[in-house]
Amino acid sequence: MNILDGKHVSEKIKLEIADQAAAFLHDAGRKPHLVAILVGNDGGSETYVASKMKNCEKVGFQSSLYRFDTTVSENELLDKVREINADPGVDGLIVQLPLPKHIDPEKVTEAIDPKKDVDGFHPINLGRMVRNLPCYLPATPYGILLMLQAYNIDTAGKHCVVVGRSNIVGMPMSILMARNANPGNCTVTLTHSKTRDLKEQVLQADVIVAAIGKKNFITADMVKPGAVVIDVGINREVSDQTKSGYKLYGDVDFENVAPKSSYITPVPGGVGLMTIVGLLKNTLASARKEIY
Ligand code: GUN
Repeated sequence: MNILDGKHVSEKIKLEIADQAAAFLHDAGRKPHLVAILVGNDGGSETYVASKMKNCEKVGFQSSLYRFDTTVSENELLDKVREINADPGVDGLIVQLPLPKHIDPEKVTEAIDPKKDVDGFHPINLGRMVRNLPCYLPATPYGILLMLQAYNIDTAGKHCVVVGRSNIVGMPMSILMARNANPGNCTVTLTHSKTRDLKEQVLQADVIVAAIGKKNFITADMVKPGAVVIDVGINREVSDQTKSGYKLYGDVDFENVAPKSSYITPVPGGVGLMTIVGLLKNTLASARKEIY
């Protein structure tokens, strides 16, 4: 069993990004600039956005955070998005999800200029991804591809079973693993809450991507010996044993699955750190006008 070490890989890639950001500053006279919008104060979202901002600083990007109360109207939020779209000093804009119930996330996502959509959630970027055209890949799937690449894991011809069909992870991951690309070239099964015989499906997998959002959902009896196991879960549970007051659990029963796997990502210290790298790479690509 080998650990896919998100800390090691993300730190290495961030050094490369920092070099490229310095070169961009030298050439363009400004830093790559990421703007985040955060509505409300959901604990998970607060943590993710703070980490995104902190990492921008670490690699020499400018970052700005606009915060709104949960009572903000949809129109007010859309106006802010349009204002940032029009600002030539901004390269990337993300609106942290989830949003309060009275705001339509589709409307907000589609209001973001596809050229600044470094989350890769806009239908134009999604469509370009499906067609294998230059685009911003969604940060978490992008981070997973970078992780597989870093460990030279050959996925061609393998059977990849994705568990969970979210717009942010499961759905795009299934498309990326099936593309004629490396990593990719997999035969893909996309499973979800209505899948019959889920255990039998997952047992077929050479590569498992667990993105279902349930602690320890993937158990050892569901895993073929030698499988590559990618755990996307970030399930927070209140704990007195940690400084933050929370303990993180993945979607995979790591203790029992790890000995059966060939490679496995830990939680924390796996995919979560790679998500940030995906976002930073997209922001740099936007600043350097590499996609559009
Ligand atoms: N909520 C959970 N993951 C993400 C993400 O990657 N981007 C945004 N904007 N919101 C999220």
